[in-house]
Amino acid sequence: MRRVVCRQWGEPELLEVVEEDSTPPGPGQVRVAVDAAGVNFVDGLFVAGTYQIKVPPPFTPGSELAGTVVEIGDGVTDLAAGDRVLSSLGLGAWADEVTVDTARLIRVPDGIENTVAAAIVQSYCTAWFTLTRRTSVEPGEVVLVLGAAGGVGLAAIDVARGLGATVIAAASTPDKLADATAQGASAAIAYEDEDLKARAREIGGGGVDVVIDPVGGDHTEAALRALRRGGRLAVIGFAAGIIPRLPANQVLLNNRTVVGVDWGAWAMANGAEQAALLDEVLTAVADGRLHPPEPTRRPLAEAGSVVRDLLDRKVRGKVVLVP
Ligand SMILES: NC(=O)c1ccc[n+]([C@@H]2O[C@H](COP(=O)([O-])OP(=O)(O)OC[C@H]3O[C@@H](n4cnc5c(N)ncnc54)[C@H](OP(=O)(O)O)[C@@H]3O)[C@@H](O)[C@H]2O)c1
Repeated sequence: MRRVVCRQWGEPELLEVVEEDSTPPGPGQVRVAVDAAGVNFVDGLFVAGTYQIKVPPPFTPGSELAGTVVEIGDGVTDLAAGDRVLSSLGLGAWADEVTVDTARLIRVPDGIENTVAAAIVQSYCTAWFTLTRRTSVEPGEVVLVLGAAGGVGLAAIDVARGLGATVIAAASTPDKLADATAQGASAAIAYEDEDLKARAREIGGGGVDVVIDPVGGDHTEAALRALRRGGRLAVIGFAAGIIPRLPANQVLLNNRTVVGVDWGAWAMANGAEQAALLDEVLTAVADGRLHPPEPTRRPLAEAGSVVRDLLDRKVRGKVVLVP
């Protein structure tokens, strides 16, 4: 089997692909041929050693995958060879096969391709968790999504639209804004060139109700100032590399709320609740209420250059590594 290995924290170019023997499944395990493994911004942080959770090398990055069961271990009765499964492993997904406990797998519903399934879990669970568990959005409310053509951004557009909101997308380039509009945003702001606060207020008819912020940097305060009475700012991540400091008076004014979102830690600590949340997401995808975009496919051997592209803001939407 082949897998990507991070032997030392640092630049993504240091990632290697190694070949080794397959691991046969033990009791309660199956071996899965990986059809696609999702790439997320956080994978780059793991490789750099800058994420809040530091994994000592050597390790195989990659938090999510979808594939096909090829071998079952003793005592496995709920899965058989040929079944399509997905997994949110946390680490180890960037490989052409994985051997895992069946408890870590769920079936991919009919109607969802494995390439799409491999790219859903982190981005869609984060967006769904944000808008259904950490805050709420009512039909007719206006949601401003920053980094709108990123993995979390496109998922947030889709989820907000699915919940009946109108979405304003903010991103850096015309191509990215076109992707966000295709995903369902009804207005677009080029936030590196336009006044984010003024434009969001103007388009939102005086302000917006919810801000989804996976980007951070200077855009966060501008977005906070664009919130109308009772507005909510969901702090999801700092892809810009700068953790913003927010003026507390801007939270006080208009009875605004700033909400922290740590889906990963919540999911790890609340397995049953996460399983229910993922089921809600997959059901909504399978019955057509959510529409995850088709990810870009890149070979497993290009893992390092995909991470580099993410860091350089060159990626639109999601990328999956296809062994
Ligand atoms: N809290 C949670 O539970 C949770 C869950 C998942 C992800 N996250 C975090 O959310 C953030 C986004 O994740 P993602 O997977 O959606 O990432 P992504 O697909 O790479 O999207 C991030 C977006 O941020 C924007 N950006 C602005 N400045 C950037 C910079 N200097 N470098 C890179 N991107 C920059 C880019 O859009 P423009 O070029 O249009 O500005 C990019 O599309 C990450 O920080 C991740 O760790 C948090």
